[in-house]
Amino acid sequence: MSNKQEDFIVAIDGPSASGKSTVSREAARKLKVNYVDSGAMYRGMTWKAVREGVDVKDAVAVIELMNRTRWEFFIEDLVLKFTIDGDDPTDHLRSEPVRERVADIAVIPEVRVFMVTRLRETAEFGALVMEGRDIGSVVFPDAEFKYYLDADPEERARRRHKELLETEGKGDVEQVLSSLTRRDKIDSTRKTAPLQIPLGAKVINTTGMTIDEVVDFIVDEVNATR
Ligand code: CDP
Repeated sequence: MSNKQEDFIVAIDGPSASGKSTVSREAARKLKVNYVDSGAMYRGMTWKAVREGVDVKDAVAVIELMNRTRWEFFIEDLVLKFTIDGDDPTDHLRSEPVRERVADIAVIPEVRVFMVTRLRETAEFGALVMEGRDIGSVVFPDAEFKYYLDADPEERARRRHKELLETEGKGDVEQVLSSLTRRDKIDSTRKTAPLQIPLGAKVINTTGMTIDEVVDFIVDEVNATR
């Protein structure tokens, strides 16, 4: 399980609904390497706080809670999974209370240090594709492959709205746009590790592209270089 010489890292960053998650998961599957969703860990911590009745704006309380949580990581079908204090949070990660609070948890510097350490440890499982907001800039600045996916806000709101209709059967496109814009603003203006284009990252504007086109672009480039 050591980080072997031939293990490589593909870092994919970008704002919400830029296509990051689907593209990263699919690219990892095609490359036959592990897929790591870093946002899931910030969401996991948020879920834990909500569950324990901790106010996410109370950094001291969040840190205190975080320091007594026990996280376990494992790979299942080439996807990084985790439990928090023995519970699998997967089904709750995209729930409304979590999505409305996660950006506030992610501004807490101590939370970021904790997550960055855990995220780096996942490379022990082997080559990986990791997606997030600060992967190519902070978590793995030396990653062999770095991409920054973007799309127009309206297109991103349309995509997220479609997802919500599929998962929750409801959703208002204007409200989705304002929620995304709010989260983008918190993510890009925070002091610690703001959302930015990492040094050396290739920017892909996915507005007019299909998921497959973006995936193929990345997979072909990785395969050509290795
Ligand atoms: O799916 P979506 O892009 O909307 O969200 P996500 O990737 O699950 O991330 C949720 C939130 O976690 C983001 O809005 C950020 O506030 C935070 N996050 C972060 O700060 N750094 C990361 N590497 C990943 C997520």
